Amino acid sequence: MTILVTGGAGFIGSNFVLDWLADASTRDERVVNLDALTYAGNLRNLASLQGDARHVFVKGDIGDRALVDRLLAEHQPRAVLHFAAESHVDRSILGPGAFIKTNVEGTFTLLEAARAYWSALEGDAKAAFRFHHVSTDEVYGSLAPDAPAFTETHPYEPNSPYSASKAASDHLVRAWHHTYGMPVLTTNCSNNYGPYHFPEKLIPLMIVNALAGKPLPIYGDGLQVRDWLYVGDHCSAIRTVLAKGRVGETYNIGGWNEKPNREIVHTVCALLDELRPSAEGPYTRLITHVKDRPGHDRRYAIDARKIERELGWRPAETFETGIRKTVRWYLEHADWVADVQSGGYRDWVAANYSAR
Ligand code: NAD
Ligand code: TYD
Repeated sequence: MTILVTGGAGFIGSNFVLDWLADASTRDERVVNLDALTYAGNLRNLASLQGDARHVFVKGDIGDRALVDRLLAEHQPRAVLHFAAESHVDRSILGPGAFIKTNVEGTFTLLEAARAYWSALEGDAKAAFRFHHVSTDEVYGSLAPDAPAFTETHPYEPNSPYSASKAASDHLVRAWHHTYGMPVLTTNCSNNYGPYHFPEKLIPLMIVNALAGKPLPIYGDGLQVRDWLYVGDHCSAIRTVLAKGRVGETYNIGGWNEKPNREIVHTVCALLDELRPSAEGPYTRLITHVKDRPGHDRRYAIDARKIERELGWRPAETFETGIRKTVRWYLEHADWVADVQSGGYRDWVAANYSAR
């Protein structure tokens, strides 16, 4: 059997592909990985799969209908796992166009291609097919400090161009189920962290900047709250929902780990003080407060009881175990960081794949 993954060279997608091909329950199933390799896509994340026939990488855009049609016809996947997106809130503020193009139009094109493919399937193959849409808790908007965490029925109130584009894609997926009967699953997850996280996002940025002796920029007062989930737990939740989730349902995924940004940065500094102390003193000396993000959401929190009650999933990592693993990973992968920062991984892709 085969699955089609979109965005499988990005942070979560590459973790998902690696975990899929390592997990005893899924490792015999091939992965076709469609990724446009934007700035956020990095084939080096998947270097350990080089020469592995279970992984077929295709460089291309989810908005390219002819390409998606061809991949579906050729590989006959039993599921589409849709990770591909523009994903960085700050980039969406500076340039929202790419977010509409990929997250809204791209998802629309992918849905239409999947619908045509699924409609032509028959019998068991048709009944078993799933379109799994990977989304975010940011679609629900911002919570007051004492408000209950987001459940799956919380109203959609997206506040950034990123979250608005993801909310639009969630609505398309929902409508394709309601109108055409497409067998869809949607998951809305909180902030992920872990290996292969692009160092423009909070946690990897803080690790990388601290090690380079650069400022650690905290937006505004740093009291904005996020729920943090180790990426491996997000991947296991997606595998669980794909295997057991009820068609047409939405599942919130979270880590039961609400923390203000300031605490996250202090935790990263403390771990670095322990694991790679600086001669110049504690890393917190590098913390600087900078101008806040426009429209900055104050708090996200996930109520992940539905996925636990219905499907028996809970995160395996606590924040303490997950963040320690993550800091260690960055310390042990300085070459990966240097490559991403220099753009050198693009050269690596050309060197490794141009003749194939
Ligand atoms: P990412 O930015 O690291 O990776 C996105 C990947 O999609 C990249 O490999 C990129 O090359 C690819 N891509 C972008 N546009 C494309 C296009 N038009 N066609 C094909 N490929 C394209 O993002 P991520 O953090 O791995 O997030 C993956 C998914 O999970 C996204 O849908 C995001 O909204 C969702 N999500 C992320 C988080 C988080 O904390 N990072 C939390 C919840 C949900
Ligand atoms: P980010 O990793 O961009 O994720 P998101 O905005 O999707 O939650 O940011 C996480 C939080 O950290 C968010 O509240 C913004 C804040 N932040 C900083 O304070 N400084 C930074 O340099 C960055 C990138 C983020």
